[in-house]
Amino acid sequence: MNRPEKLVENRTESPRLYSSGQTRLYNLNRKSDSVSIVGMGYVGLCTAATFASRGIRTVGIDIDNERVQQIRKGKAPLHEPQLDTMLRKAVKTKLLEATTDTSRAIDTTTTFLTVGTPSGADGSIDLSYLKTAVADLGKILSKKTGYHLVVVKSTVVPGTTNGAVKHSLEESSGKNVGPELGLCANPEFLKEGTAINDALHPDKIVIGSNDKKSANQLTKLYRRFYGSKLPPVITTNPESAELVKYASNAFLATKVSFINTIANIAQQIPGVDVGTIADALGRDPRIGPLFLKAGPGYGGSCFHKDLQALINYGHNTGYDPTLFRATEDTNEKQAIRVVSMAEKLLGSLSDKKVAILGLAFKQDTDDIREAASIRVINGLKKKGAQVIAYDPMAIPNTKRQLTNQISYAEDPHSVLKGADCAIIMTEWDQFQKLKPKDFQAFMNTPNIVDARRIYDSDEFKELNYAAIGLGRANP
Ligand code: UGA
Repeated sequence: MNRPEKLVENRTESPRLYSSGQTRLYNLNRKSDSVSIVGMGYVGLCTAATFASRGIRTVGIDIDNERVQQIRKGKAPLHEPQLDTMLRKAVKTKLLEATTDTSRAIDTTTTFLTVGTPSGADGSIDLSYLKTAVADLGKILSKKTGYHLVVVKSTVVPGTTNGAVKHSLEESSGKNVGPELGLCANPEFLKEGTAINDALHPDKIVIGSNDKKSANQLTKLYRRFYGSKLPPVITTNPESAELVKYASNAFLATKVSFINTIANIAQQIPGVDVGTIADALGRDPRIGPLFLKAGPGYGGSCFHKDLQALINYGHNTGYDPTLFRATEDTNEKQAIRVVSMAEKLLGSLSDKKVAILGLAFKQDTDDIREAASIRVINGLKKKGAQVIAYDPMAIPNTKRQLTNQISYAEDPHSVLKGADCAIIMTEWDQFQKLKPKDFQAFMNTPNIVDARRIYDSDEFKELNYAAIGLGRANP
């Protein structure tokens, strides 16, 4: 096992990073070591913290002053394991500086763009934040003498880097992309909850560039970051790099919808459990075991947004990607299935008290964006149920979105009090620890819909227990 890396501050010299006893030292005053990152959201902040952790001087830029002030205090404005600790160190050693001042990018050699690319009303990608950021950066770079590399890390549809970004950058800077201004697409593959680890140990780096100079500068930066552990670097054109990101998320989302489809079939066959099917399926190296957990459907800020953008992009090119429409449709209907399972156990949902255990789109996050829990809650409300929910982290975010449409409990026991049905929506550890007696002691009637399949069906057989993909005849 590697010894943890240590950041050491030296009063007489610049701070240096000592890695695993190696003599890999970084001189932080060298301009070649510095990067700026525009957009201190989830991706930008994790990227900035990990760059700084490797001794690379990093300037984090965001228009939100409150966010910048918080980062300056070494406090993450969002929940991500390990991020707070890393930020604290990075700020303390001055390896990471946060600012609202885009002109600070001029002193760095490379600027990463990590601003959000949300969905427009029709599902198409909304590039407005990216365009503003590029125009601002271009104006700054017009004053720079010497080469500067701009890297698009935001998820963008093929053609964006070489189209809208290049156009705006050249127009606002008065420079040509090529010899004086480098431009690359370099997508990220960070997962919420494990983003720091993903950034430190990626399975590949994808660099899309039009020329060798920009690709070489970015590869050199990553070589400095990863040292002898540099992952495979796939160098291609910007359009391919952009499409890799969509292909990756579309594949993963389709894998989830695939196993949910098998789960729904398995559920109709007494004695069949989709867990057994997934286990056998995943042992085939052509398939692999990951992303084969059946559940209430995928959520999060990326899969739905990126599939919609890809579908929309396909249509604009004259192609209808029916597979991805089916992936999305299957996902939407999975939440309706969860509601139907509760209805089947209860007869009618009208005026029944339903406890939702888990609001976050997956465990270890407070993020409820596109979470299946919200779709299920809306379905339950439509059928007249009274909903009470508990989540260890995501209640504040849910309150902002659903306001007082539902009520909230303070712990996993009180959410069950007097409930007619409990639905497990997120696989939090504390829910996995609940035993049948907990449900029996607190609930009005112990009807359970295990949408995350976290319980052993044999242990729960005395209760009215139904799980996604479990073909057990309901009592
Ligand atoms: C996803 C991708 O996994 C990352 O590679 C990508 O960088 C990121 O989107 C992005 O585009 O920024 P994330 O949204 O954090 O990451 O979440 P995942 O861990 O991929 O989970 C997505 C959803 O699928 C969750 O709701 C999860 O519960 C669900 N899921 C996942 C299942 O239902 N079953 C599984 O087997 C796996």
